[in-house]
Amino acid sequence: MELEQLRQQALAQLEQVHDEAALRSWNSQFLGKNGALTQALKRLAQLPPQDRPAYGQQVNALKEALLAALEHKKAELHQRELARSLAAEALDVTLPGRPVLRGRLHPATQVMRDILAIFAELGFQVYRSREVEDDLTNFELLNMPPHHPARDLWDTFHTTTPGVLLRTHTSPGQIHVMRQYCPRPIRVVLPGMCYRYEQITARSEIQFQQVEGLAIGESISLSDLIGTLSTFAKRFFGGERRIRIRNSYFPFTEPSIEVDVDCILCQGEVPGPSGSSGTAAAASSCTLCKGTGWLEILGAGMVHPVVLRHGGYDPERFQGFAFGMGPQRMAMLKYAIHDIRLFWSNARRFLEQF
Ligand code: PHE
Repeated sequence: MELEQLRQQALAQLEQVHDEAALRSWNSQFLGKNGALTQALKRLAQLPPQDRPAYGQQVNALKEALLAALEHKKAELHQRELARSLAAEALDVTLPGRPVLRGRLHPATQVMRDILAIFAELGFQVYRSREVEDDLTNFELLNMPPHHPARDLWDTFHTTTPGVLLRTHTSPGQIHVMRQYCPRPIRVVLPGMCYRYEQITARSEIQFQQVEGLAIGESISLSDLIGTLSTFAKRFFGGERRIRIRNSYFPFTEPSIEVDVDCILCQGEVPGPSGSSGTAAAASSCTLCKGTGWLEILGAGMVHPVVLRHGGYDPERFQGFAFGMGPQRMAMLKYAIHDIRLFWSNARRFLEQF
C-alpha cells in the first residue's frame, strides 16, 4: 500500500515538472541518496524475513518505473526546449542574401589591355622586358653616356649594386628587342612598370606603367609614326580625334616629337583671338584641357642612328620609330580622373566605378 502511494505521489509530482531545475529536485526527492525510494528500501530490514523478497522486488519495480518516467520527462523537456528555441531564433529564409563581393579588373589593367588590343590590330606584338635594368641599357645605349645632362630628365632609383637600377622608362626594352631580332623587321609594344625617384603628387607617382612602341624596317618614316598614333588615338578615345605634333627632345630619337590629342571633353573648341562666342566661353572653362583645347598623350620620334647601331641595325639601311605613353595618364584623360594616386589607393569607391 505504501509503495503504491509513493508511486502515485511521484508520478503526480512529475506531471507538474516543467523545467530542468524542477526535474533535478524531483530526482533527488524520489531517486536520490536520501530519497523516498532509499527510505522505502531501508524498511526492508524491519519486515519479517518471509516478506522481504516480495517487498524488495516491488521496490525495484517501482525504481524501474520511476527511472523510465524520468527519462520520458527529460525527452519531453528537451523537445519543448528545442521547439521554443526554434520559434524564438527563427531564420527568415525569404530574406535576400548578402551579395558576395566580386572582383574585377583594376582600371589600370583594363586600360592596359585596351591599349595592347588596339596595337595588336595594328600588327604590334607584345614584348615583355625587365624592370631591373643596368645603367648601360637604361641610359648609355640609349645615347646617354655618363654625365650626359639628359639623364636629369629621369630621377632614378639606384640599387646598392653599382650600375643596377629600376628602369625609369620602358625605352631600354628597345635595346633588348633589337638585339634579339636583328636584322629582322620589328613591330612591338613593351608594356610594364617604371620607377622614378620623385615626389608623389596628383600628377606623378614613383611607380607607373608605360607602353613603349617600336617599329624597325627598311622604309619607315615619320608619317608612319603619325599615322599609327592618330589611328590609335581615334580607337582609344573614340570619335574623330585629331592629333597635334609638337617639337620635342629625347636623346634616343631624332627628330623627337610630343603628341597631343584634341580635348575629348570640349572637342578642342578653343577661343579664337577675339574669343567672344558661346563655344569659346565653354572651352575656356574646360576642366580637362584648361581651355587649351589639347591633351598631351605621349613622347615619340624616329629611332636615333646611335640607338639603331647599339641594337645591331645599320642606320644606313634601317629606320624606325618609337613612342612611349603612360596608360594611367591615358585613363585619367579618358575617364576624367584627376589624381594618379587613386590608382594605387585600393579605395573600393574608386575601383568599383570601372
Ligand atoms: N622614354 C620616354 C619617357 O619616358 C618616352 C619616349 C619613348 C620618347 C620612346 C620617345 C620614344 O619619357
